[in-house]
Amino acid sequence: MKKLINTETRLIGLLGYPLKHSFSPAMQNAAIEEHKLNKLYIPIEVQKKDLDTVVKGISRMNFDGFNVTIPYKVDIIKYLDDIDESALMAGAVNTVVIKSGKMKGFNTDGRGFILAFKAGTSESVQGKKFLVLGGGGAARAITVSLVLNGAEQVFLHNRTHEKALRLVEEISSKIKNSCRIKAVSDMELSSITKESKVIINATSVGMYPNVEDDPIDKSFLQKKHIVCDIVYNPENTKLLETAARIGCKTLSGTGMLVYQGIESFRLWTGKAVSPDTMFRAIDLEKQEHWPEGQH
Ligand code: ATR
Repeated sequence: MKKLINTETRLIGLLGYPLKHSFSPAMQNAAIEEHKLNKLYIPIEVQKKDLDTVVKGISRMNFDGFNVTIPYKVDIIKYLDDIDESALMAGAVNTVVIKSGKMKGFNTDGRGFILAFKAGTSESVQGKKFLVLGGGGAARAITVSLVLNGAEQVFLHNRTHEKALRLVEEISSKIKNSCRIKAVSDMELSSITKESKVIINATSVGMYPNVEDDPIDKSFLQKKHIVCDIVYNPENTKLLETAARIGCKTLSGTGMLVYQGIESFRLWTGKAVSPDTMFRAIDLEKQEHWPEGQH
């Protein structure tokens, strides 16, 4: 049935640049449809020079809020009236809720990973040792959430080691009484991988079109590892393919994408969405819009 747009319709936006490959419009509109809400989720591709004008305009229009993606997850903070602890800790915002013209920022990426991890592996975070590969926004959000959710230890390895060192220092200063977190050098990576139970690729390595790239030497992987990727294009990355062949439990990036979306939807609407609704929307979008071989 065709969606009816009228003067009561509330909008939710997606701010970023570029937005061409985002699944969020498909996922969020499927959730809106599931609940038969009079809302519409729309992509708003914004150039940096226009961000100021667009954000101020949105706050005065019929928007319940918006998602923020690359490259504005940090830039958006200066426009907010309030910021949730999730976003403060992560140092970045991916979800903004607007109430009475006031904007509050949240970050659902970290919680999205935790929920996806629990649902996708049937394992808990508590008491486990994690190795996170990466030092960008995704690595930061995931590391903070692992620490807050009771991980025994989080190791952080990044191509640029200084970035991992800075991140560890910053997170340790923000979260008191936290588990131990440690930046890992190239030299230590092999032994630390052995010591860890869960390996998470939080870099863009392995993403289409560079699907043959590996974020870690595959000889480091063992059957006991749980291997997670935040990359969802392709769904089955080279890392996950190798891990599955060895006999590891694996988790693809689509889960994190879906659960961060579910958390954002809950913030705007107060309603729960079944993960299947969003997984189905992603599959449909891939079939309709992605060229052969890209998924
Ligand atoms: P995001 O916000 O999605 O995390 P980002 O901030 O650009 O994106 O971070 C990308 C991460 O992938 C970084 O950790 C980056 O390493 P550097 O800090 O050294 O740049 C990592 N990355 C990207 N390409 C990489 C590659 N070819 N090899 C290793 N790491 C890579």
